[in-house]
Amino acid sequence: METNTYTVPDITVRKNQGLTHAADFTLPQPLARYSTEDHQTWATLYRRQSEMLPGRACDEFLQGLAALDVDADRVPDFNRLNEKLQAATGWRIVAVPGLIPDDVFFEHLANRRFPVTWWLREPHQLDYLQEPDVFHDLFGHVPLLINPVFADYLQAYGKGGMKAKNLGYLPLLARLYWYTVEFGLINTPQGMRIYGAGIVSSKSESVYCLDSDSPNRVGFDLQRIMRTRYRIDTFQKTYFVIDSFQQLFDATAPDFTPLYHAVEQQGVLGAGEIEPHDRIFHVGNRVGWGDSTDV
Ligand code: PHE
Ligand code: FE
Repeated sequence: METNTYTVPDITVRKNQGLTHAADFTLPQPLARYSTEDHQTWATLYRRQSEMLPGRACDEFLQGLAALDVDADRVPDFNRLNEKLQAATGWRIVAVPGLIPDDVFFEHLANRRFPVTWWLREPHQLDYLQEPDVFHDLFGHVPLLINPVFADYLQAYGKGGMKAKNLGYLPLLARLYWYTVEFGLINTPQGMRIYGAGIVSSKSESVYCLDSDSPNRVGFDLQRIMRTRYRIDTFQKTYFVIDSFQQLFDATAPDFTPLYHAVEQQGVLGAGEIEPHDRIFHVGNRVGWGDSTDV
């Protein structure tokens, strides 16, 4: 879920030239548009991440990747993948042209449909692109959707999104998505592991988030997260660590309406700030952050 005021990037326009989408922004996955080069790029990305993630990504993610039998050598066919996904948790993926309006996004999630950008980044963008593509959306997000607790969390988020939007508190809820669904870490008996889609789909951040001494790693705290700004243009300065998906689900189950009002009173925290009540796993040494005050 991203921002409202947004100009469609050139690559999105170019990839979707001549295609149309329905009112809910879905379209049939244009399978014929994938080139040989696209499939090779997918294979490269898949290989890089699947070599790196054992011992880094949480078991639930790795199990999901295996159980869904996500293709290693070509961009997956969404319909084929949906057979397994729907049987597992009732979720399915739908193809979209790129980022979609917040309310449309929430409506999909609330109905257990995950919108997946159908097109793939180009070879010169292997390591970074600004907008989500099929590798981020599918490889990053979809494996966890066969975990029943996470599956319910994401649906609840969709329902909560509508409410937050109507109340005018979407920016606070967006921080929760960012610091959990996109950049979350989970503490397991085997050690700290990744579950956030923005991390598992990035080669460099998959290493950085666990191995670097620069960022903070602090325990999940709902109000704390809602107060914390985030950076979309750098590695995260703070990662929030859950103990289990059940903890995440339970902590977010209550009505957020009173919480939004409380959080609003508390004031905003910078992306790299440490707070007195933080449950500390690691205080970042801030190496590489520069002098920017927006930490
Ligand atoms: N309980 C939240 C609310 O009332 C909804 C929600 C659930 C939001 C899970 C995010 C994640 O708004
Ligand atoms: Fe994402």
